[in-house]
Amino acid sequence: MRLRGAVAVVTGASSGIGAATALRLHEAGARLVLHGRDTGRLAALAERTGGAVVAGDLADLDGIPALADEITGRFGEVDVLVNNAGIGWAGPFGEMTAADVRRVVDVNLTAPIELTRALLPALRGRPEAGVVFVTSIAGRTAVAGESVYSAVKAGLDVFAESLRFELAGTGVRIGVVVPGVVDTEFFARRGRPYQRRSPRPIPADRVAGAVLRAVRDGRAEQHVPGWLRLPVLVRGTLPGVYRALATRFGGSG
Ligand SMILES: NC(=O)c1ccc[n+]([C@@H]2O[C@H](COP(=O)([O-])OP(=O)(O)OC[C@H]3O[C@@H](n4cnc5c(N)ncnc54)[C@H](OP(=O)(O)O)[C@@H]3O)[C@@H](O)[C@H]2O)c1
Repeated sequence: MRLRGAVAVVTGASSGIGAATALRLHEAGARLVLHGRDTGRLAALAERTGGAVVAGDLADLDGIPALADEITGRFGEVDVLVNNAGIGWAGPFGEMTAADVRRVVDVNLTAPIELTRALLPALRGRPEAGVVFVTSIAGRTAVAGESVYSAVKAGLDVFAESLRFELAGTGVRIGVVVPGVVDTEFFARRGRPYQRRSPRPIPADRVAGAVLRAVRDGRAEQHVPGWLRLPVLVRGTLPGVYRALATRFGGSG
């Protein structure tokens, strides 16, 4: 898909993978719509890229139709939607409150589904369009201490794949990017730093490169880094072996 002049909405653009993705899309000539809550950071990125800021809290699901209306009203068309915003939660499941569960589900799963639903008519109105979902290796392998986060990322993954099948033959292409451990504020924000020695966190720009390829080349699925396909393959083909290895060597984030 041609990105020069395309209107590209990026959620979670104020930080980490979203900010790196916005810069990559800007370099490719896209017109950016930058979404997040931190208006100071979004404004700084908008100044750098010539993008527009549309701020809001994705935990407010009732606000999503108005958000979509604001985007289509201001820009008229949407060619690209990058559903990237997300939050983590790590710790024993029994210590999660109902509010914690709701927030993890709403921000990571319901909000991207609802935003995609609200923007789909605009995307379908374009000759070519792309929607990318930033999921997580946690949703493919399962992680102790991140049960709800892993569950919603798995849900987002299979939603994306189902939608990809459903929209085959239309101009709208769906892709998922499945990152491993990425060097962003994600871990500090969830209140539990990443403490394992390996795998080492990768730069956010590497994931942004995959998002760009998903849009530009219509790539359906990319693990970043690529070797993450291996544990997914082992889990799918030899689940008993996978469980034994995960229990011995990790399975916790
Ligand atoms: N870092 C990793 O190791 C890793 C691994 C796999 C997958 N991921 C996924 O990658 C995506 C991006 O995460 P990141 O690593 O770049 O983390 P990050 O630096 O913490 O960025 C998260 C982004 O999401 C936005 N966001 C969070 N809650 C929001 C809300 N309620 N409403 C609107 N925006 C909200 C934040 O914006 P504001 O603060 O402005 O609201 C921020 O821009 C997430 O979906 C995450 O699950 C990350």
